[in-house]
Amino acid sequence: MNKKIFITRKIPDLGITLLKNKGYEVDVYSKNRIMPQKELISILKKKDYDAVLCLLTDKIDAKVYDAAPNTKLYANYATGFDNLDLVEAKKRGITITNAPADLSSEAVAEHALAMILALAARIVEADDFVRRGKYKGWDPMNFIGTDTVGKTLGLVGAGRIGERVAIFVKGLGMKVIYTDVNKNPRIEESAGAEYCKTLEELLPRADIVSLHVPLLDSTKHLMNEKTFKLMKKSAYLVNTSRGPIVDEKALVKALKEKVIAGAGLDVFEFEPKLMSGLAKLENVILTPHIGSASIEARNQMAEVAVNNIIDFFEGKLPKNVVNK
Ligand code: GLV
Repeated sequence: MNKKIFITRKIPDLGITLLKNKGYEVDVYSKNRIMPQKELISILKKKDYDAVLCLLTDKIDAKVYDAAPNTKLYANYATGFDNLDLVEAKKRGITITNAPADLSSEAVAEHALAMILALAARIVEADDFVRRGKYKGWDPMNFIGTDTVGKTLGLVGAGRIGERVAIFVKGLGMKVIYTDVNKNPRIEESAGAEYCKTLEELLPRADIVSLHVPLLDSTKHLMNEKTFKLMKKSAYLVNTSRGPIVDEKALVKALKEKVIAGAGLDVFEFEPKLMSGLAKLENVILTPHIGSASIEARNQMAEVAVNNIIDFFEGKLPKNVVNK
């Protein structure tokens, strides 16, 4: 019998084609929006899918698993997998995979770099100024920003994305310090990065703090009122990881009260909602969770996610099982 796969929103054709070439029956959610969980549950109840390819915007928990007793695989189209209940899945013998495509790490790292440079050079504020017709000629004091050369980048998390960011900013002449649960000899070698045992040790030294940790109980609200106060007043925060790592209410307060100089955010605590007051601030750059949105990354993510499905149904252990 042909395997039946449900995809919760359109992904690059390449992935869908790979599945169809295997003879699988593929259904894609027909609407171009985040699929409400209720609709997913009702679709899963109506048809016996063997696997679901889901997105980071889909909450996959016991309610979903219960609706689909024969769905044995949920392949997440993302590196992060905080949207799925792994414990409940394991109890039911359900396999969960993620899609940690190399090019998605690359794209997110490039996005973090773009944020760093855009904050330092005040690109977004300046663009807005020109568009509003406020540019009346060159001004020695207009949009004074900061150089990155000689400054210190504080990386919170030194996994694959953090490592790439470190290498990029080394090219800018920045010093890199990092904190993580374990030391990472590779980042020390490739970017001369210096290990800080604790976040508290790192924050006062960094001119830019860039977050590259997964969302876990231990990383939720890692950046909060207390930790913002440890940062330099001139420092910027960049978050391209997961929104809830930052207490967004405390961030808005810190930005308003100039506890820190600014922030570049690609992710939000209550995505897609923004904390009240955030969008009014000039010292922030806001992008809609597009860190991995390069065509190369998204195609590779589709390939990785789909290959996990294919391996699973061909009796092989998928490469990216996250709930072994
Ligand atoms: C994107 O946020 C991802 O986890 O891949």
